[in-house]
Amino acid sequence: MPARRIRHGKLAVIVKTESIQPIKALSGSIELPGDKSISHRYAMLAALANGTSELRNFAAARDCHSTLGCMKSLGAGVKVDGTTVQVTGHGLRGLKSSWRTLDAENSGTTIRLLSGILSGQSFTTKITGDSSLQKRPMKRVMTPLREMGADIQGREENFPPLEIHGRKLHAIHYQMPMASAQVKSAILLAGLYAEGETAVTEPAATRDHTELALLEFDAPVRKQGRTVSVQGLAAGDRSNPALRPISADVPGDLSSAVFWVAATSLLLESNVYIANVGLNPTRSAILDFFTQMGAAISIVNLQTKHGEVVGDLSIKGARLKGGVVSGDRVALLIDELPMLAALGPYTEQGIEIRDAGELRVKESDRIAALAENLKRMGATVEERSDGLRVAPGELSGAEIDPRGDHRIAMAFAVAGLGANGETRILDGECAGVSYPTFFSELRRLAE
Ligand code: S3P
Repeated sequence: MPARRIRHGKLAVIVKTESIQPIKALSGSIELPGDKSISHRYAMLAALANGTSELRNFAAARDCHSTLGCMKSLGAGVKVDGTTVQVTGHGLRGLKSSWRTLDAENSGTTIRLLSGILSGQSFTTKITGDSSLQKRPMKRVMTPLREMGADIQGREENFPPLEIHGRKLHAIHYQMPMASAQVKSAILLAGLYAEGETAVTEPAATRDHTELALLEFDAPVRKQGRTVSVQGLAAGDRSNPALRPISADVPGDLSSAVFWVAATSLLLESNVYIANVGLNPTRSAILDFFTQMGAAISIVNLQTKHGEVVGDLSIKGARLKGGVVSGDRVALLIDELPMLAALGPYTEQGIEIRDAGELRVKESDRIAALAENLKRMGATVEERSDGLRVAPGELSGAEIDPRGDHRIAMAFAVAGLGANGETRILDGECAGVSYPTFFSELRRLAE
Protein backbone atom coordinates (compact mmCIF):
# COMPACT_ATOMS: atom_id res chain seq x y z
CA MET A 1 0.00 0.00 0.00
CA PRO A 2 2.00 3.08 -1.17
CA ALA A 3 1.95 6.20 1.02
CA ARG A 4 1.51 9.67 -0.45
CA ARG A 5 1.54 13.23 0.86
CA ILE A 6 -1.53 15.39 0.15
CA ARG A 7 -2.40 18.93 1.22
CA HIS A 8 -5.25 19.21 3.71
CA GLY A 9 -5.78 22.91 4.41
CA LYS A 10 -2.36 24.12 5.61
CA LEU A 11 -1.29 20.66 6.66
CA ALA A 12 0.50 18.03 4.64
CA VAL A 13 -1.05 14.66 5.48
CA ILE A 14 0.36 11.24 4.62
CA VAL A 15 -2.35 9.01 3.16
CA LYS A 16 -2.08 5.42 2.01
CA THR A 17 -3.41 4.53 -1.39
CA GLU A 18 -4.99 1.11 -1.95
CA SER A 19 -4.36 -0.35 -5.37
CA ILE A 20 -7.16 -2.44 -6.88
CA GLN A 21 -6.44 -4.64 -9.88
CA PRO A 22 -9.19 -6.16 -12.01
CA ILE A 23 -9.76 -9.84 -11.13
CA LYS A 24 -11.90 -12.74 -12.39
CA ALA A 25 -13.32 -14.13 -9.16
CA LEU A 26 -13.54 -14.00 -5.39
CA SER A 27 -13.82 -17.20 -3.40
CA GLY A 28 -13.78 -18.34 0.20
CA SER A 29 -15.60 -17.71 3.43
CA ILE A 30 -15.71 -14.62 5.56
CA GLU A 31 -16.58 -13.62 9.09
CA LEU A 32 -17.76 -10.08 9.37
CA PRO A 33 -17.07 -7.47 12.00
CA GLY A 34 -19.94 -7.05 14.43
CA ASP A 35 -22.85 -4.83 13.41
CA LYS A 36 -22.05 -1.16 13.92
CA SER A 37 -25.59 -0.01 14.79
CA ILE A 38 -26.12 -2.79 17.34
CA SER A 39 -22.67 -2.33 18.91
CA HIS A 40 -23.31 1.39 19.52
CA ARG A 41 -26.63 0.66 21.21
CA TYR A 42 -25.32 -2.21 23.35
CA ALA A 43 -22.35 -0.11 24.47
CA MET A 44 -24.55 2.83 25.50
CA LEU A 45 -27.22 0.77 27.25
CA ALA A 46 -24.59 -1.39 29.00
CA ALA A 47 -23.13 1.83 30.42
CA LEU A 48 -26.57 2.66 31.87
CA ALA A 49 -27.25 -0.84 33.24
CA ASN A 50 -26.47 -2.05 36.75
CA GLY A 51 -23.46 -4.34 36.42
CA THR A 52 -21.18 -5.72 33.74
CA SER A 53 -22.32 -6.65 30.23
CA GLU A 54 -20.19 -8.85 27.99
CA LEU A 55 -20.48 -7.98 24.30
CA ARG A 56 -18.81 -10.50 21.97
CA ASN A 57 -18.02 -9.84 18.30
CA PHE A 58 -18.31 -6.15 19.16
CA ALA A 59 -17.78 -4.03 16.03
CA ALA A 60 -14.16 -3.42 15.10
CA ALA A 61 -15.46 -0.23 13.45
CA ARG A 62 -13.67 2.94 14.59
CA ASP A 63 -17.10 4.53 15.09
CA CYS A 64 -18.10 2.05 17.80
CA HIS A 65 -14.80 2.54 19.59
CA SER A 66 -15.61 6.26 19.61
CA THR A 67 -18.79 5.37 21.49
CA LEU A 68 -16.81 3.22 23.95
CA GLY A 69 -14.40 6.13 24.50
CA CYS A 70 -17.31 8.47 25.28
CA MET A 71 -18.96 6.01 27.70
CA LYS A 72 -15.62 5.57 29.48
CA SER A 73 -15.22 9.35 29.82
CA LEU A 74 -18.72 9.37 31.34
CA GLY A 75 -17.63 6.94 34.05
CA ALA A 76 -18.54 3.49 32.68
CA GLY A 77 -15.99 0.69 33.01
CA VAL A 78 -14.80 -0.42 29.56
CA LYS A 79 -12.46 -3.37 28.94
CA VAL A 80 -11.60 -4.33 25.39
CA ASP A 81 -10.04 -7.71 24.63
CA GLY A 82 -10.00 -8.16 20.85
CA THR A 83 -13.63 -8.16 19.81
CA THR A 84 -14.93 -8.97 23.30
CA VAL A 85 -15.87 -5.88 25.24
CA GLN A 86 -16.96 -5.66 28.86
CA VAL A 87 -18.89 -2.57 29.84
CA THR A 88 -19.73 -1.89 33.48
CA GLY A 89 -22.56 0.50 34.18
CA HIS A 90 -23.58 1.98 37.52
CA GLY A 91 -27.28 2.38 36.76
CA LEU A 92 -29.34 4.94 34.87
CA ARG A 93 -28.15 7.69 37.23
CA GLY A 94 -24.59 6.36 37.36
CA LEU A 95 -22.94 8.46 34.64
CA LYS A 96 -20.46 11.12 35.75
CA SER A 97 -19.74 14.46 34.19
CA SER A 98 -16.70 14.39 31.89
CA TRP A 99 -14.11 17.15 32.40
CA ARG A 100 -13.11 16.90 28.78
CA THR A 101 -15.15 17.41 25.63
CA LEU A 102 -16.41 14.04 24.36
CA ASP A 103 -15.13 13.11 20.91
CA ALA A 104 -17.53 11.23 18.64
CA GLU A 105 -14.87 11.44 15.87
CA ASN A 106 -16.60 10.46 12.57
CA SER A 107 -19.68 8.90 14.14
CA GLY A 108 -23.11 10.47 13.64
CA THR A 109 -24.72 7.63 15.58
CA THR A 110 -22.52 8.33 18.62
CA ILE A 111 -23.26 12.05 18.83
CA ARG A 112 -26.98 11.83 18.02
CA LEU A 113 -27.85 8.90 20.29
CA LEU A 114 -25.68 10.19 23.12
CA SER A 115 -27.39 13.59 22.88
CA GLY A 116 -30.57 11.81 23.98
CA ILE A 117 -28.89 10.23 27.00
CA LEU A 118 -26.98 13.39 27.97
CA SER A 119 -30.16 15.50 27.85
CA GLY A 120 -31.49 13.67 30.89
CA GLN A 121 -28.36 13.89 33.09
CA SER A 122 -27.84 16.25 35.99
CA PHE A 123 -24.65 17.73 34.48
CA THR A 124 -23.41 19.54 31.39
CA THR A 125 -21.49 17.80 28.59
CA LYS A 126 -19.69 19.09 25.53
CA ILE A 127 -19.46 16.75 22.58
CA THR A 128 -17.86 17.20 19.18
CA GLY A 129 -16.32 15.21 16.34
CA ASP A 130 -13.98 15.37 13.36
CA SER A 131 -14.23 17.90 10.53
CA SER A 132 -16.82 15.76 8.67
CA LEU A 133 -19.04 15.35 11.76
CA GLN A 134 -18.82 19.07 12.49
CA LYS A 135 -20.63 19.67 9.20
CA ARG A 136 -23.48 17.24 9.89
CA PRO A 137 -26.93 18.50 10.96
CA MET A 138 -27.90 18.09 14.61
CA LYS A 139 -31.06 20.22 14.60
CA ARG A 140 -33.01 17.05 13.87
CA VAL A 141 -32.20 15.78 17.39
CA MET A 142 -31.96 19.19 19.08
CA THR A 143 -35.58 20.05 18.19
CA PRO A 144 -37.33 17.06 19.81
CA LEU A 145 -34.91 16.93 22.75
CA ARG A 146 -35.61 20.62 23.46
CA GLU A 147 -39.32 19.81 23.32
CA MET A 148 -38.64 17.28 26.08
CA GLY A 149 -37.07 20.04 28.17
CA ALA A 150 -33.39 19.66 27.27
CA ASP A 151 -31.10 22.66 26.93
CA ILE A 152 -28.81 22.03 23.94
CA GLN A 153 -26.67 24.58 22.15
CA GLY A 154 -24.88 23.95 18.89
CA ARG A 155 -22.81 25.97 16.44
CA GLU A 156 -25.21 27.93 14.22
CA GLU A 157 -28.08 26.17 16.03
CA ASN A 158 -27.33 23.00 14.03
CA PHE A 159 -23.74 21.75 14.13
CA PRO A 160 -21.28 20.24 16.60
CA PRO A 161 -19.72 21.03 18.99
CA LEU A 162 -22.87 20.60 21.09
CA GLU A 163 -23.18 21.76 24.67
CA ILE A 164 -25.85 19.74 26.45
CA HIS A 165 -27.11 20.93 29.82
CA GLY A 166 -28.95 17.97 31.33
CA ARG A 167 -32.43 18.80 32.60
CA LYS A 168 -35.52 17.19 34.06
CA LEU A 169 -37.26 15.81 30.96
CA HIS A 170 -40.93 15.24 30.22
CA ALA A 171 -42.46 12.73 27.83
CA ILE A 172 -43.59 13.83 24.37
CA HIS A 173 -45.23 12.16 21.40
CA TYR A 174 -43.00 13.17 18.50
CA GLN A 175 -44.08 12.91 14.87
CA MET A 176 -40.75 12.62 13.11
CA PRO A 177 -40.57 14.81 9.99
CA MET A 178 -37.94 12.49 8.48
CA ALA A 179 -37.23 8.76 8.51
CA SER A 180 -34.13 8.52 10.71
CA ALA A 181 -33.24 5.74 13.12
CA GLN A 182 -30.77 8.04 14.84
CA VAL A 183 -33.43 10.65 15.63
CA LYS A 184 -35.90 7.98 16.78
CA SER A 185 -33.22 6.45 19.01
CA ALA A 186 -32.11 9.75 20.55
CA ILE A 187 -35.71 10.42 21.63
CA LEU A 188 -36.26 6.91 23.01
CA LEU A 189 -33.01 7.05 25.00
CA ALA A 190 -33.98 10.46 26.39
CA GLY A 191 -37.37 8.88 27.13
CA LEU A 192 -35.68 6.64 29.73
CA TYR A 193 -35.12 9.83 31.75
CA ALA A 194 -38.52 11.45 31.14
CA GLU A 195 -41.57 11.52 33.36
CA GLY A 196 -44.25 9.35 31.66
CA GLU A 197 -44.30 7.53 28.35
CA THR A 198 -42.33 8.96 25.40
CA ALA A 199 -43.55 8.01 21.93
CA VAL A 200 -42.11 8.47 18.45
CA THR A 201 -43.99 8.00 15.19
CA GLU A 202 -41.87 7.61 12.08
CA PRO A 203 -43.00 8.49 8.55
CA ALA A 204 -41.37 5.35 7.12
CA ALA A 205 -39.84 2.31 8.82
CA THR A 206 -36.20 2.60 9.89
CA ARG A 207 -33.86 0.14 11.62
CA ASP A 208 -35.32 -0.97 14.96
CA HIS A 209 -32.14 -1.99 16.82
CA THR A 210 -32.77 0.51 19.64
CA GLU A 211 -36.21 -0.94 20.33
CA LEU A 212 -34.81 -4.50 20.33
CA ALA A 213 -31.80 -3.57 22.46
CA LEU A 214 -33.98 -1.72 25.01
CA LEU A 215 -36.07 -4.89 25.39
CA GLU A 216 -32.92 -6.99 25.90
CA PHE A 217 -31.80 -4.65 28.68
CA ASP A 218 -35.29 -4.94 30.20
CA ALA A 219 -36.67 -1.48 29.43
CA PRO A 220 -40.43 -1.25 28.92
CA VAL A 221 -40.84 -0.62 25.18
CA ARG A 222 -44.02 -0.94 23.13
CA LYS A 223 -44.46 -0.88 19.39
CA GLN A 224 -47.70 -0.21 17.55
CA GLY A 225 -47.48 0.26 13.80
CA ARG A 226 -45.00 3.07 13.16
CA THR A 227 -45.12 4.28 16.78
CA VAL A 228 -42.65 3.15 19.44
CA SER A 229 -42.92 4.16 23.07
CA VAL A 230 -40.78 3.78 26.13
CA GLN A 231 -41.69 4.28 29.77
CA GLY A 232 -39.43 6.67 31.69
CA LEU A 233 -37.39 4.84 34.34
CA ALA A 234 -35.17 7.48 35.88
CA ALA A 235 -37.25 10.64 35.90
CA GLY A 236 -36.34 13.36 38.40
CA ASP A 237 -34.01 12.16 41.14
CA ARG A 238 -35.51 8.70 41.29
CA SER A 239 -33.30 5.85 40.23
CA ASN A 240 -36.01 3.32 39.93
CA PRO A 241 -35.97 0.01 38.11
CA ALA A 242 -32.60 -0.71 36.64
CA LEU A 243 -31.58 -1.87 33.22
CA ARG A 244 -30.09 -5.35 33.51
CA PRO A 245 -26.69 -6.10 32.00
CA ILE A 246 -26.55 -8.57 29.10
CA SER A 247 -24.19 -11.16 27.71
CA ALA A 248 -24.57 -11.12 23.94
CA ASP A 249 -22.98 -11.94 20.59
CA VAL A 250 -23.27 -9.09 18.10
CA PRO A 251 -24.30 -10.37 14.66
CA GLY A 252 -22.06 -9.62 11.64
CA ASP A 253 -22.73 -6.31 9.92
CA LEU A 254 -25.00 -6.70 6.88
CA SER A 255 -23.94 -3.26 5.62
CA SER A 256 -20.37 -4.60 5.46
CA ALA A 257 -21.55 -7.89 3.90
CA VAL A 258 -23.08 -5.90 1.06
CA PHE A 259 -19.64 -5.10 -0.39
CA TRP A 260 -19.04 -8.85 -0.72
CA VAL A 261 -22.53 -9.46 -2.10
CA ALA A 262 -21.83 -6.84 -4.77
CA ALA A 263 -18.28 -8.02 -5.58
CA THR A 264 -19.29 -11.69 -5.71
CA SER A 265 -22.26 -10.95 -7.98
CA LEU A 266 -20.11 -8.79 -10.26
CA LEU A 267 -17.36 -11.39 -10.80
CA LEU A 268 -19.30 -14.21 -12.41
CA GLU A 269 -17.03 -17.11 -11.39
CA SER A 270 -17.16 -16.15 -7.70
CA ASN A 271 -18.43 -18.17 -4.77
CA VAL A 272 -18.42 -16.64 -1.27
CA TYR A 273 -19.88 -17.80 2.06
CA ILE A 274 -20.53 -15.29 4.83
CA ALA A 275 -21.32 -16.70 8.26
CA ASN A 276 -23.34 -15.04 11.02
CA VAL A 277 -24.84 -12.03 9.27
CA GLY A 278 -27.43 -9.80 10.95
CA LEU A 279 -30.62 -10.11 8.89
CA ASN A 280 -32.96 -7.86 10.85
CA PRO A 281 -35.94 -7.23 8.50
CA THR A 282 -35.43 -3.45 8.85
CA ARG A 283 -31.96 -3.90 7.35
CA SER A 284 -32.32 -6.79 4.90
CA ALA A 285 -34.25 -4.97 2.14
CA ILE A 286 -30.89 -4.74 0.36
CA LEU A 287 -30.83 -8.52 -0.07
CA ASP A 288 -34.36 -8.43 -1.54
CA PHE A 289 -33.20 -5.72 -3.93
CA PHE A 290 -30.17 -7.76 -5.03
CA THR A 291 -32.37 -10.85 -5.47
CA GLN A 292 -34.86 -8.85 -7.57
CA MET A 293 -31.93 -7.75 -9.73
CA GLY A 294 -31.05 -11.44 -10.31
CA ALA A 295 -28.32 -12.00 -7.69
CA ALA A 296 -27.72 -15.62 -6.59
CA ILE A 297 -27.99 -15.39 -2.80
CA SER A 298 -29.13 -18.18 -0.47
CA ILE A 299 -29.77 -17.70 3.21
CA VAL A 300 -29.14 -20.64 5.57
CA ASN A 301 -28.99 -21.33 9.33
CA LEU A 302 -31.58 -18.67 10.17
CA GLN A 303 -32.03 -18.06 13.89
CA THR A 304 -32.92 -15.30 16.33
CA LYS A 305 -30.40 -14.09 18.94
CA HIS A 306 -31.28 -11.34 21.43
CA GLY A 307 -34.25 -10.36 19.25
CA GLU A 308 -32.06 -10.00 16.14
CA VAL A 309 -32.40 -12.33 13.14
CA VAL A 310 -29.07 -13.90 12.12
CA GLY A 311 -28.11 -16.26 9.28
CA ASP A 312 -25.39 -17.25 6.81
CA LEU A 313 -25.25 -16.04 3.20
CA SER A 314 -24.02 -18.09 0.27
CA ILE A 315 -23.44 -15.97 -2.85
CA LYS A 316 -22.43 -16.80 -6.40
CA GLY A 317 -21.70 -14.60 -9.41
CA ALA A 318 -24.76 -13.53 -11.43
CA ARG A 319 -25.77 -10.99 -14.06
CA LEU A 320 -27.63 -8.09 -12.45
CA LYS A 321 -30.56 -6.30 -14.08
CA GLY A 322 -30.32 -2.96 -12.28
CA GLY A 323 -33.30 -1.02 -10.94
CA VAL A 324 -34.69 2.01 -9.16
CA VAL A 325 -34.59 2.81 -5.43
CA SER A 326 -37.10 5.44 -4.30
CA GLY A 327 -39.75 6.33 -1.70
CA ASP A 328 -39.95 4.44 1.60
CA ARG A 329 -37.31 1.95 0.45
CA VAL A 330 -34.61 4.64 0.64
CA ALA A 331 -34.54 4.65 4.47
CA LEU A 332 -34.19 0.87 4.55
CA LEU A 333 -31.27 0.87 2.09
CA ILE A 334 -29.66 4.16 3.08
CA ASP A 335 -26.16 2.86 3.88
CA GLU A 336 -26.11 0.50 0.89
CA LEU A 337 -26.87 3.15 -1.75
CA PRO A 338 -23.18 3.99 -2.41
CA MET A 339 -22.45 0.35 -3.28
CA LEU A 340 -25.56 0.07 -5.46
CA ALA A 341 -24.71 3.25 -7.37
CA ALA A 342 -21.09 2.19 -7.94
CA LEU A 343 -22.36 -1.14 -9.27
CA GLY A 344 -24.73 0.66 -11.67
CA PRO A 345 -22.45 0.54 -14.75
CA TYR A 346 -22.17 -3.26 -14.44
CA THR A 347 -25.95 -3.80 -14.49
CA GLU A 348 -28.08 -4.30 -17.61
CA GLN A 349 -30.32 -1.26 -17.11
CA GLY A 350 -28.27 0.85 -14.72
CA ILE A 351 -29.20 2.06 -11.23
CA GLU A 352 -31.37 5.03 -10.40
CA ILE A 353 -31.70 6.49 -6.90
CA ARG A 354 -34.47 9.00 -6.10
CA ASP A 355 -35.83 10.65 -2.93
CA ALA A 356 -32.43 10.27 -1.24
CA GLY A 357 -31.46 13.87 -0.42
CA GLU A 358 -30.26 12.46 2.95
CA LEU A 359 -27.22 11.07 1.13
CA ARG A 360 -25.90 14.63 0.89
CA VAL A 361 -25.52 14.89 4.69
CA LYS A 362 -23.84 11.58 5.44
CA GLU A 363 -20.10 11.15 6.21
CA SER A 364 -19.61 13.00 2.90
CA ASP A 365 -21.99 14.40 0.31
CA ARG A 366 -22.41 10.90 -1.06
CA ILE A 367 -24.33 11.94 -4.18
CA ALA A 368 -21.52 14.28 -5.22
CA ALA A 369 -18.78 11.81 -4.22
CA LEU A 370 -20.44 9.01 -6.21
CA ALA A 371 -21.06 11.15 -9.29
CA GLU A 372 -17.53 12.55 -9.32
CA ASN A 373 -15.74 9.23 -8.85
CA LEU A 374 -18.00 7.32 -11.25
CA LYS A 375 -17.24 9.96 -13.89
CA ARG A 376 -13.50 9.58 -13.18
CA MET A 377 -13.95 5.89 -14.08
CA GLY A 378 -15.73 6.81 -17.32
CA ALA A 379 -19.35 6.14 -16.28
CA THR A 380 -22.33 8.08 -17.59
CA VAL A 381 -23.96 9.67 -14.56
CA GLU A 382 -26.77 12.16 -14.13
CA GLU A 383 -26.48 13.87 -10.74
CA ARG A 384 -29.71 15.18 -9.23
CA SER A 385 -30.47 17.05 -6.01
CA ASP A 386 -31.95 13.93 -4.37
CA GLY A 387 -30.15 11.11 -6.13
CA LEU A 388 -28.48 10.04 -9.33
CA ARG A 389 -28.90 7.85 -12.37
CA VAL A 390 -25.97 5.66 -13.39
CA ALA A 391 -26.12 4.21 -16.90
CA PRO A 392 -24.74 0.79 -17.88
CA GLY A 393 -21.29 0.82 -19.48
CA GLU A 394 -17.64 -0.17 -19.07
CA LEU A 395 -15.46 1.34 -16.34
CA SER A 396 -11.77 2.18 -16.49
CA GLY A 397 -9.47 2.23 -13.50
CA ALA A 398 -8.90 5.72 -12.08
CA GLU A 399 -7.75 7.55 -8.97
CA ILE A 400 -10.65 7.66 -6.52
CA ASP A 401 -11.05 10.34 -3.86
CA PRO A 402 -13.41 8.87 -1.24
CA ARG A 403 -13.52 12.23 0.63
CA GLY A 404 -12.69 10.41 3.85
CA ASP A 405 -15.92 8.39 3.58
CA HIS A 406 -15.57 4.68 4.38
CA ARG A 407 -18.50 3.50 2.27
CA ILE A 408 -17.35 5.47 -0.79
CA ALA A 409 -13.85 3.93 -0.49
CA MET A 410 -15.19 0.37 -0.28
CA ALA A 411 -17.82 0.85 -3.00
CA PHE A 412 -15.16 2.00 -5.47
CA ALA A 413 -12.76 -0.76 -4.47
CA VAL A 414 -15.49 -3.19 -5.56
CA ALA A 415 -16.19 -1.22 -8.75
CA GLY A 416 -12.45 -1.36 -9.50
CA LEU A 417 -12.48 -5.17 -9.49
CA GLY A 418 -14.45 -5.19 -12.75
CA ALA A 419 -12.81 -2.16 -14.40
CA ASN A 420 -10.14 -2.04 -17.09
CA GLY A 421 -6.79 -1.27 -15.50
CA GLU A 422 -5.72 -0.24 -12.01
CA THR A 423 -7.97 1.71 -9.61
CA ARG A 424 -6.26 3.63 -6.82
CA ILE A 425 -8.28 4.41 -3.73
CA LEU A 426 -6.75 7.43 -2.05
CA ASP A 427 -6.82 7.25 1.76
CA GLY A 428 -8.20 3.69 1.71
CA GLU A 429 -7.66 3.57 5.48
CA CYS A 430 -10.88 5.52 5.96
CA ALA A 431 -12.63 2.14 5.46
CA GLY A 432 -11.70 1.49 9.10
CA VAL A 433 -14.56 3.71 10.22
CA SER A 434 -16.75 0.64 9.69
CA TYR A 435 -14.54 -2.18 8.37
CA PRO A 436 -10.83 -2.04 9.34
CA THR A 437 -9.94 -5.38 7.69
CA PHE A 438 -11.81 -4.76 4.41
CA PHE A 439 -8.75 -4.45 2.13
CA SER A 440 -6.88 -7.39 3.69
CA GLU A 441 -10.01 -9.55 3.37
CA LEU A 442 -10.34 -8.46 -0.26
CA ARG A 443 -6.75 -9.54 -0.97
CA ARG A 444 -7.38 -12.89 0.75
CA LEU A 445 -10.57 -13.67 -1.20
CA ALA A 446 -8.95 -12.61 -4.47
CA GLU A 447 -6.05 -15.09 -4.14
C1 S3P B 1 -27.88 4.54 11.77
C2 S3P B 1 -28.90 5.16 11.11
C3 S3P B 1 -28.79 5.71 9.76
C4 S3P B 1 -27.55 5.18 9.07
C5 S3P B 1 -26.34 5.20 9.95
C6 S3P B 1 -26.56 4.33 11.17
C7 S3P B 1 -28.11 4.03 13.14
O1 S3P B 1 -28.67 7.12 9.85
O2 S3P B 1 -27.31 5.90 7.88
O3 S3P B 1 -25.20 4.71 9.25
O4 S3P B 1 -27.30 3.22 13.65
O5 S3P B 1 -29.13 4.41 13.73
P1 S3P B 1 -29.99 8.08 9.86
O6 S3P B 1 -30.73 7.82 11.11
O7 S3P B 1 -29.42 9.47 9.82
O8 S3P B 1 -30.73 7.73 8.63
